[in-house]
Amino acid sequence: MAIRYELIKECKQTGARLGRLHTPHGIIETPIFMPVGTQATVKAMTPEELKDMQAQIILSNTYHLYLRPGHELVKEAGGLHKFMNWDRPILTDSGGFQVFSLGDLRKITEEGVEFQSHIDGSKHFLSPEKVMEIENALGADIIMAFDECAPYPADKAYVKNSLERTTRWAVRCKEAHKNTENQALFGIVQGGMYQDLREQSARELVALDFPGYSIGGLSVGEPKELMYEVLDYTTPLLPKDKPRYLMGVGSPDALIEGAIRGVDMFDCVLPTRIARNGTAMTSIGKVVIKNAKYTRDFTPLDPNCDCYCCKNYTRAYLRHLYKADEILSSRLMSTHNLHFLINLMKQVREAIMNDRLLDFRNEFFANYYGETQ
Ligand code: GUN
Ligand code: ZN
Repeated sequence: MAIRYELIKECKQTGARLGRLHTPHGIIETPIFMPVGTQATVKAMTPEELKDMQAQIILSNTYHLYLRPGHELVKEAGGLHKFMNWDRPILTDSGGFQVFSLGDLRKITEEGVEFQSHIDGSKHFLSPEKVMEIENALGADIIMAFDECAPYPADKAYVKNSLERTTRWAVRCKEAHKNTENQALFGIVQGGMYQDLREQSARELVALDFPGYSIGGLSVGEPKELMYEVLDYTTPLLPKDKPRYLMGVGSPDALIEGAIRGVDMFDCVLPTRIARNGTAMTSIGKVVIKNAKYTRDFTPLDPNCDCYCCKNYTRAYLRHLYKADEILSSRLMSTHNLHFLINLMKQVREAIMNDRLLDFRNEFFANYYGETQ
């Protein structure tokens, strides 16, 4: 077994859990936020900087690395950890989500998905077996099965069809996965916004006994309240002794609400993407750094943050960097946003430990959505 989930404590106020995930590259304290490094780099950050902000695990992507530079090359380099100089745990997504997002550029059959590269238009075919070959070559500690993520909204017949195919593909991934000693394969629960379909998907995947389970097909344009409702009935369907990963979710409120509903792992491009667009998540709400009101604001980005950016620079300076289109703007803003979410999850873990997660949520939201800065 590549990983082992150790359940440390269940919250007395909510469905949240405190845990420890033991992996070949070290231990992850959960609930956790995982920074995204799609192309074998968390944009603008070095691995040393990620360690300084206490990132415990990062995520990368099968689809992108298969197309460029190619999984064979990454394998030749000694695997993804060595290639990108990151010696802590890595999780790779299967490419299911990216390929399905290509729209007209892809064709789905039972065998797999034919698609055209977003880089040069070249034709490719991904099947469960091919995805396992790629993820085995990349060598991440945790790998995702090849799934089909239904869009929102989608009618019930479509969603049922895609979740059933996701189960059949999960069986094929399990059979094709060659490195079970060092890499843990997670099944992905689909089923859209339909309770009976989520139940069917979870039941079928749990019967296959994966070392962990992802919840996919959420944060695809549905209202947040609907996502929370789906989580309310989906996480209880998953085994207590295995980790649960909510894919593609990373707003501060969704991290807290997800943890409350028993989710252990989250990832999202949000903190790094909005950082490059000049937006910070802070303890007192969002800060859009280009705004004129920060021209002479010589205070830190977040008055309650001890990250490298907040310890050393002012809003006025960050605004100047952004307006002048300087690279350092992306670097400093990304440093803060990643630190913010990593630290938020640390506070969530402390709150679970002290049985005060609901109180923490209320305090956090009062500051975050209170007076906007
Ligand atoms: N990332 C966000 N949502 C999904 C999903 O449903 N499937 C996969 N593979 N990745 C995702
Ligand atoms: Zn900061």
